[in-house]
Amino acid sequence: MKIFATYNIKGGVGKTATAVNLGYLAAKDGYRVLLWDLDPQGAASYLFRIKPRVKGGGKALIKGTKSIDSAIKGTDFDRLELLPADFTYRNLDLLLDAAKRPARRLAALLAPLKGEYDVVFLDCPPSISLLSESVLHAADLLLVPLIPTTLSVRTLDQLTEFMAGFNGHRPDVLAFFSMVDRRKRLHTQIAADLPAQRPDFAATAIPALSVIEQMSVQRAPVTAFSPRSQAARQYGHLWQEARERAGLTG
Ligand SMILES: Nc1ncnc2c1ncn2[C@@H]1O[C@H](COP(=O)(O)OP(=O)(O)OP(=O)(O)O)[C@@H](O)[C@H]1O
Ligand SMILES: [Mg+2]
Repeated sequence: MKIFATYNIKGGVGKTATAVNLGYLAAKDGYRVLLWDLDPQGAASYLFRIKPRVKGGGKALIKGTKSIDSAIKGTDFDRLELLPADFTYRNLDLLLDAAKRPARRLAALLAPLKGEYDVVFLDCPPSISLLSESVLHAADLLLVPLIPTTLSVRTLDQLTEFMAGFNGHRPDVLAFFSMVDRRKRLHTQIAADLPAQRPDFAATAIPALSVIEQMSVQRAPVTAFSPRSQAARQYGHLWQEARERAGLTG
């Protein structure tokens, strides 16, 4: 079982769009996929038409009084299942703080699912918190969407430095440019230069495309409702890179 997390301290950069589309593509490839919508806003749950509700809330999951298994819902797609968001997830930090070994808690909660899923996607809310720390400890590969600006690269360096302080498990990082606007010269320049210079950058970038915004109208991944679009093609390339980087074979 490989655990992928879409993560950035910044909001609105394409984390959920990435988790939803790569999750769909992984399932299409034949993997058994679980996507955990960790954001109390519940955007991923919404996109899969699933009520953002977990009985007993985040507390029951973190404490282990409710099994993760019993909270999982099926989606409209084969092999793709969702652990929904819940509004109580806004308190996940406090709940984790009260738990034993909070930074390892998510990894411990996911460990029993090893036989049931091949791939897990964690869709994180934008923050740097105890929850994100727990996600970073659980993940094999971190997918970091970045809007191409000079500051975004600093964000990535700060994240890498933060993780360098971890003892034990550290996820591999695959950063990629997201919402690249071809009309902005700085965007195209940065998106063209950096991937060639840094091994932590994917060769694939996701352009800013209105069909991706359409996901919230269609309530489905763009890779599902418009599989031949440029957007779907780029997500396909990104999934190939992520999959290879994580060492997923077969
Ligand atoms: N490449 C893209 N082109 C155009 N629109 C996009 C693209 N990626 C995402 N969007 C849109 O931008 C908005 C934010 O994207 P998304 O929800 O994926 O970001 P996020 O990083 O998960 O945000 P948050 O931090 O709030 O969780 C959404 O409305 C989404 O449809
Ligand atoms: Mg999101």
